[in-house]
Amino acid sequence: MSVTELFRPDGVADDRDLQLTPNGELKHLITLNGIGKQRIEALLDHAEGYLSPLGEQAVRSNELQGMTVANLFFEPSTRTRASFDLAARRMGADVLNLDVNTSSRKKGESILDTLYTLQAMQVDIFVVRDASSGVPAYIARHVGDHISILNAGESNLSHPTQGLLDLLTIRRHKGKFENLTVAIVGDIAHSRVARSAAEGLRAMNVAELRLISPQPLAPDPASVPGCQILHDLEAGLRGADVVMALRIQRERIGSLDGIPAIDEYFANFGISRERMKIAAPDAIVMHPGPMNRGIEIESALADSKQSVITEQVTNGVAVRMAVLATVASTLSNS
Ligand code: CP
Repeated sequence: MSVTELFRPDGVADDRDLQLTPNGELKHLITLNGIGKQRIEALLDHAEGYLSPLGEQAVRSNELQGMTVANLFFEPSTRTRASFDLAARRMGADVLNLDVNTSSRKKGESILDTLYTLQAMQVDIFVVRDASSGVPAYIARHVGDHISILNAGESNLSHPTQGLLDLLTIRRHKGKFENLTVAIVGDIAHSRVARSAAEGLRAMNVAELRLISPQPLAPDPASVPGCQILHDLEAGLRGADVVMALRIQRERIGSLDGIPAIDEYFANFGISRERMKIAAPDAIVMHPGPMNRGIEIESALADSKQSVITEQVTNGVAVRMAVLATVASTLSNS
């Protein structure tokens, strides 16, 4: 039995149904697939309220006072883990960052037994990153009714808070989505960032969404409905309003056979100031991080005025505050 079959048993409801209460309130955040434009707009509007100008004090609230948030990252992370940690603390929660490498999972404890153990310590919200597909939904089905699960990165499938922070960053620069051409360039096949961005952008009725990669890193077309799949960078960048570069996800690639070497990759699929001249004149450049400078993105472009990469990081804290506040409110009402 594959890991996917293990975590997605037959006959269970779709993840989209799982994340809402019978009243339609957001209880878990597992995927942006099917979440809907109205709910995304509400989360982005909510997140705007947690932004303050850089250099000023961060926005704080007591919306999570008395609650406990546990960060369980079974894969490495800098941005997502740090921003969930800061977001929860700025809202008054107790925060547990489990050190997975020294936890009892190393002694063979299952992820559910780890969850049940922490649930017994009265954790309210679990933030979970795992390399296997289906894990966030699987644990959401098994924890107590009074608990919320937030997906902080699931295999190559889903990274919903990254998708929301990308949407917030685009909206703050471009205002609306309906007339935008967005180009996502790089290792699309192994990217949960690309999938969640595509799900969110489709929900927001983006005009055109182009996914550009070398052939071996192209997605299964069925997994990205409504997107153009391209292998020519210039065609993909032409006139684009938003360009997002992705790193090669080496940790998910069994064999690098057929994948261009670094110099060839940058020559054919690297985003540079020169290449950006064929995009729209006011195009913005995004990257979810971590970046491999000189491979998928020219270092000078990453640090240029066109780049909104550090804004994405700032917006990530605000988006995670909005998601935490939303599910905390749902838990309080139930
Ligand atoms: N974008 C992103 O998920 O970054 P981290 O892996 O550092 O969390």
